[in-house]
Amino acid sequence: MAKISASVFTSHVPAIGAALDLGKTGEDYWKPVFAGYDFAKQWEKEQKPDVVFLVFNDHATAFSLDMIPTFAIGTAAEYQPADEGWGPRPVPKVIGHPKLAAHIAQSVIQDDFDLTIVNKMDVDHGLTVPLSLIFGQVDAWPCPVIPFAVNVVQYPVPSGRRCFMLGKAIRKAIESYDEPLNVQIWGTGGMSHQLQGPRAGLINREWDNAFLDRLINDPEGLSKVPHIDYVREAGSEGIELVMWLIARGAMSDVNETKKGNAPTVRHRFYHVPASNTAVGHVILENN
Ligand code: DHB
Ligand code: FE
Repeated sequence: MAKISASVFTSHVPAIGAALDLGKTGEDYWKPVFAGYDFAKQWEKEQKPDVVFLVFNDHATAFSLDMIPTFAIGTAAEYQPADEGWGPRPVPKVIGHPKLAAHIAQSVIQDDFDLTIVNKMDVDHGLTVPLSLIFGQVDAWPCPVIPFAVNVVQYPVPSGRRCFMLGKAIRKAIESYDEPLNVQIWGTGGMSHQLQGPRAGLINREWDNAFLDRLINDPEGLSKVPHIDYVREAGSEGIELVMWLIARGAMSDVNETKKGNAPTVRHRFYHVPASNTAVGHVILENN
């Protein structure tokens, strides 16, 4: 049977992709950002996941206002890096896992969650920047990736509770797949940032760190935080953080945690700023 071995949480920021692609990682501004990911790159070489289930948000690249799926699962064989206005990032194409993705779609939809099936899509910085941060600058991504897009751009967005419960359904789906695959689930986006309006530039270190504490130790309680709190406290784009609850929901849950089966915190990192964003990064391993 397939198994979820670990979850990886990380912010995405287009300027991080540009810093990598333009060879700026050694600059004083960027050094402390990339230092926070040295552990993950080494760790991944040991973990050797067979598949990454990557929860991310599209930024009006694959989906426009013409069509706004709340939850969309990528079932394609491959995905090209999107042109976000400056040409596509010079990173490898993303190889999918259509068979596992179709199995997850079947299981999760029959478990009462409505997913949009996406057989063709380009992937923007929401997906390619986390891949670059965790796997480094490589000629080919080391494993297939199942992109799972969440609408956090156009209201209404899904609640934390819905995301957390969906994570549990995804775990059940993966654990019922009849091949011994080592699957990781990644939650991406966030942390606090606001890109527009009078509060542009907003960062909230205290709220972000409390979010990380609760993500680790009280995910169920955290899932009840309403979307308006994210927007008020973490900025209009801070709502991206709700996606982390999908990945956390797929890990050992609160009841298991009480029995002493909590996931192990392998790495935790927080840095301000990268572009307009507070950067957070956590790695949890299932026991
Ligand atoms: C920035 C952050 C984002 O999440 C995004 O999608 C675009 C830009 C930024 O910090 O500049
Ligand atoms: Fe974003």
